[in-house]
Amino acid sequence: MSLIQYFKGNGPSGFGYGSTAEEVTAGLALAGTTVLVTGCNSGLGLEAMRVLVLRGARVLGTARTLEKARAACLSVGGQAVPFACELSDPQSVRACVEAVKRGGHRFDALICNAGVMALPKRELAFGVELQLFTNHVGHFMLVTGLLDRLAEDGRVVMLSSDAHKMAPRAGILFDDLAAATGYTPWGHYGQSKLANLLFAKELARRFSGTRKTANAVHPGVIMSNLWRHMPGIANFAMGLAGPLVLKTVAQGAATEVYVAVHPAVAATTGAYFADCNLARPRADADDAALARRLWEVTEEIVAGLPPA
Ligand SMILES: NC(=O)c1ccc[n+]([C@@H]2O[C@H](COP(=O)([O-])OP(=O)(O)OC[C@H]3O[C@@H](n4cnc5c(N)ncnc54)[C@H](OP(=O)(O)O)[C@@H]3O)[C@@H](O)[C@H]2O)c1
Repeated sequence: MSLIQYFKGNGPSGFGYGSTAEEVTAGLALAGTTVLVTGCNSGLGLEAMRVLVLRGARVLGTARTLEKARAACLSVGGQAVPFACELSDPQSVRACVEAVKRGGHRFDALICNAGVMALPKRELAFGVELQLFTNHVGHFMLVTGLLDRLAEDGRVVMLSSDAHKMAPRAGILFDDLAAATGYTPWGHYGQSKLANLLFAKELARRFSGTRKTANAVHPGVIMSNLWRHMPGIANFAMGLAGPLVLKTVAQGAATEVYVAVHPAVAATTGAYFADCNLARPRADADDAALARRLWEVTEEIVAGLPPA
């Protein structure tokens, strides 16, 4: 048990910091349920897929390549169907949407789990800072492309992070989406995670009057491949301190799985979760006008991408 788990109890949901994905789905029979999980080959996505399959769900698992997705799907057994989806490549995202549709799949939940963090140097995709493009624009294209396949009571779950609080004070830097000035690995990761939150907020607004929901989650801090871009010394320190202060991958996958399939949150929408309970994001993550503007600007970015 980590120190934090020792001091943090469970919240109103009955679950908390120490709950695992297996625990939050105990007793749930998910046969007949279909969930798409992005980034299914590593860390939280792989664990989320494993547990959903364990409970009887069919999971469509996406990874950057079909080989990676295939290997991950094989590793969990059960009904796991692999798809390629490189989120920084619009052609790949479009091909994924088409392949899923050709397969006739419909969804009960979409878990937008894939992500990249704290890239040491500024990189671009189609003129947009790469973390913002991968974490937000790629998922925007995937989700909006698949919305007509979402069940009447379907759920969209965005993996955000408490690191959204590191986003620039101005929020989304609409005037400098390429990060031409003042790139920082954490500031721009934070911006991309704020974008994930705002996307969930605006999608929830667009779902109003339906039973569909959209929420964002902070999974906790977990030692995973996500930290690969950190300097070696930071990884070494994390490795030493990890067992005391970090969540395990099994605990880290709990919140996304809980929000995607647990009956207790079937009607909760436009919310932010951490440790399987409602949490408070930074104030501007609740700014409806900002969320709407981000949606519209993202539509413009997508419209300007090279055609299929
Ligand atoms: N771990 C934490 O402490 C933490 C904290 C807060 C939030 N989160 C969020 O939780 C989510 C899962 O993170 P994790 O810890 O499980 O990290 P991880 O083990 O690194 O997994 C990330 C997944 O995203 C995929 N991915 C990265 N770039 C991609 C791209 N361009 N196109 C498609 N897929 C891509 C990775 O594929 P490859 O393996 O092929 O690169 C991998 O499958 C992320 O969204 C992250 O921001 C994590």
